[in-house]
Amino acid sequence: MDSNRIQNLKNQAISSILEAKSDQELERLRIAYLGRKGELTQLLKKLSSLSPSERKEMGRLANDAKRAVKEALEEARKVKRIDFDKEWLDVTAPGKKPSLGHLHLITEAIEEITTIFERIGFTRVAYPEVEWDWYAFGGLNMPKNHPARDEWETLYIDNLKHNRFGRAVLTPHTSSGQLREMKQRKPPIRMLNIAKCYRRQSDVSHAPMFYQFETLVIDKKINIAHLKGTLDYFAQQYFGKNRKTRIRPFHFQFTEPSFEVDISCIVCGGRSCQVCKEGWLELGGAGMVHPTVLKNGGIDPEKYSGFASGFGVERVMMMKHGIDDIRLLFSNDLRFLKQF
Ligand code: PHE
Repeated sequence: MDSNRIQNLKNQAISSILEAKSDQELERLRIAYLGRKGELTQLLKKLSSLSPSERKEMGRLANDAKRAVKEALEEARKVKRIDFDKEWLDVTAPGKKPSLGHLHLITEAIEEITTIFERIGFTRVAYPEVEWDWYAFGGLNMPKNHPARDEWETLYIDNLKHNRFGRAVLTPHTSSGQLREMKQRKPPIRMLNIAKCYRRQSDVSHAPMFYQFETLVIDKKINIAHLKGTLDYFAQQYFGKNRKTRIRPFHFQFTEPSFEVDISCIVCGGRSCQVCKEGWLELGGAGMVHPTVLKNGGIDPEKYSGFASGFGVERVMMMKHGIDDIRLLFSNDLRFLKQF
């Protein structure tokens, strides 16, 4: 027996342990070196045949080797070994992409609508969500107790009143922005007001809080052709180039004449189907700004004329994507949202 042999045995054992690919292989190595008939065990047994001085030196080395091999085995058992014969890594495989979120459908629609109108010179604005009665109704030609107000199912704020402008309301439509805009800017005006609106309503197509987008154009000699052209432009940009709009006579206190705006049905292309009314779907309201409203906004109706339109953001977006329940948009259910 010599010290080199002990040293070699130890190194050999440790390097085999480091290379072992499975727990079974480790167990085999343990038996081979430390088992009852293992090489190190045998070696230790032979120590008794050595002279006392040799035994001391060799004993120290052999015990040291035994401890080192034991430790190496323990360490190796803790580590998860990869058997490269069984497992392999395809370095050419495409990576796994982390899943990316996106803006909420309503936010996306608002951005898209904004881009469409900005392209033809509109400026996006925002006005108060809690508004005075005068801006929402009175100044829009609907005096107190006027029956037309009933259509807006307005939510009022308790105990909040302005001396001149009346009670505080949660903005029931973006038309309240018309008067704010006129008071703030001189013509030519090309306003796009997108805002939250509130009404006491709730069913598959109505939510108590929803968004509208309002256009207001005021300049010299603005007429219905400008309104119709703008509506067609929007319909084609947002819904596709084969879409057409139609205006039908209607009544609003703040426009004269007033219209309801329809778009040729997205499903049947205008031929008439179950989804539409004889080929048309309703988009929203529009009209030529009433002279009284211009006056209320400080604009001379003898010099200037204008048009306005107000549509629901959720409504146009739902029509585009074929969504039939507005509540889905506010449910925050990822199973729904991820589809877009
Ligand atoms: N404010 C009206 C509504 O909420 C829509 C509208 C806007 C009508 C502008 C005419 C002009 O129904």
